[in-house]
Amino acid sequence: MDVLEAIRGRRSVRRFREGRLPDEHLRLILEAAIWAPSAGNAQPWEFVVVRDRSTVEKVKMFSPGLFGDPDTLVVVCVNRRRVRGRGPHEVVAIVDAAMAAQNMMLAAYSLGVGSCPVASFNRAAVRELLGIPEHVEPVLIVSLGYPEEWPRPPARRPLEEVVHYERY
Ligand SMILES: Cc1cc2nc3c(=O)[nH]c(=O)nc-3n(C[C@H](O)[C@H](O)[C@H](O)COP(=O)(O)O)c2cc1C
Repeated sequence: MDVLEAIRGRRSVRRFREGRLPDEHLRLILEAAIWAPSAGNAQPWEFVVVRDRSTVEKVKMFSPGLFGDPDTLVVVCVNRRRVRGRGPHEVVAIVDAAMAAQNMMLAAYSLGVGSCPVASFNRAAVRELLGIPEHVEPVLIVSLGYPEEWPRPPARRPLEEVVHYERY
């Protein structure tokens, strides 16, 4: 699939039908994540893959922003030990993790797999449930599964409104 086609076509999916993602597709999606750019090539990301039904259900209980019954969850984390310094560096590490997440969602779409980025979840509860250590910060959950349907695209602010040439 063409990159531009994937960028335009990917949607946040919140209703999934039953169906197991083949392991090799999950691996391709995770591989897409690690080819994302990262500041200084720090690669601060780490991923917790949750496929066990009862664990998915438990994560859902702590995640008001997680909709539907996705087959798989990928908890995208930042390992603070790979981040040099505090403050701006921590923000940049979250940007790195976001790039990895977007790569995953585009790869998923190219394989016919729906996804949704979810920031609305209880970090402390998810950390405890999944045994994520203190120095690793869960920043986003990406849900994955076969969509009931591809949602209609929500409107975008027009280019004329968001792009400023030369000066703001
Ligand atoms: C950082 C981030 C956090 C998000 N958190 C949630 C969430 O908690 N729950 C949810 O249903 N969607 C969440 N979304 C998805 C957005 O609502 C969605 O991307 C937006 O409405 C545009 O729709 P589209 O992704 O289909 O283009 C999040 C998106 C981003 C980028």
